[in-house]
Amino acid sequence: MNETLKSFLEGLDGLTLECEARRGQACSLKDLDALRVEFLGRKGKLAEAMTALVRMGPEEKPVAGRKANEVKAELTALLESRQAELEAAGAQGALAGFDPSLPGRRPAPGSLHPVTLAMQEICEVLTGLGFEVVAGPEVENDWNNFEALNMPPDHPARDMQDTLYISDSVVLRTHTSPLQVRTMLSRRPPVAVIAPGKVYRRDSDITHTPMFHQIEGLLVDKSVSMADLRGTLTAFVRQLFSADTRVRFRPSFFPFTEPSAEVDISCMLCGGSGYIKTDPCRVCKKTGWVEILGCGMVDPNVFRAVGYDPEEFTGFAFGLGVERVAMLKYGIGDLRMFFENDVRFLEQFS
Ligand code: PHE
Repeated sequence: MNETLKSFLEGLDGLTLECEARRGQACSLKDLDALRVEFLGRKGKLAEAMTALVRMGPEEKPVAGRKANEVKAELTALLESRQAELEAAGAQGALAGFDPSLPGRRPAPGSLHPVTLAMQEICEVLTGLGFEVVAGPEVENDWNNFEALNMPPDHPARDMQDTLYISDSVVLRTHTSPLQVRTMLSRRPPVAVIAPGKVYRRDSDITHTPMFHQIEGLLVDKSVSMADLRGTLTAFVRQLFSADTRVRFRPSFFPFTEPSAEVDISCMLCGGSGYIKTDPCRVCKKTGWVEILGCGMVDPNVFRAVGYDPEEFTGFAFGLGVERVAMLKYGIGDLRMFFENDVRFLEQFS
């Protein structure tokens, strides 16, 4: 047999063997495509082998041609069967990492924000004492926020409040005290209400945020006295913190109460001693007391503004900062933690 023909035929058998050996290494359809191009492409191994045909005589050519067609069919079949294998494996591959016997992944449940928790607890204690919850708008008119509360225009006490103005006569409420006004305008004594909500001030540093939460309390009836105020607030803080909490009233000033007081409670961190072992207490700064609210007897001018007769009725009001209570109750050292929404912080309250 002609040498050229002989090596041609051997070469083609070699191609089939090589393809058989390598098809198994194609692990994806992409690999397999590359293999198809390598063997059967226009510049592939088979095409290259066939360039030898031109050098053959009329006797060898038909033999070589037939063999080339056979090999082409063999190569095609080899690659196609591999494709079927890969496609079948792919369909299973999608399920390969899935173990239906494993328990499901539990979605992380959210939890209430510590300020919300403190708010709820405070409201629970106060409604338990007989107060009813009322609500009002955060955008408030000047009259409800200031004027009816005995702070006429140009009253110096307005400076204490760092007001955010919407217009000359409309403000973001700087405290929940306008709920005193709204309540008294809409009902007759006796009233015993609390008003929880957001308040706003133009103030932002380590211990102040432009938005924070307050709870207002108001009780009006015939012959309500300062003793009622003391008794009510003492019962309140003892339920909220602990039965052995000590309470002290310090004289203070608010335009809408007279007399006015600020209430301190014995520091729950150091137990009122001012020291933890020998270290100064960082919460009460060695004093043994922490301030938690402002209060007083409703000023007669407030009663006059809302149409209550100050000769007939007396009452007390108080306002407390919810973030402050939450910090004391949960031992949080930095006000900013409440507003950063770091899940590592928030998760601890679930
Ligand atoms: N509104 C006062 C404040 O925001 C608190 C307060 C309320 C004081 C009611 C006395 C009576 O500072």
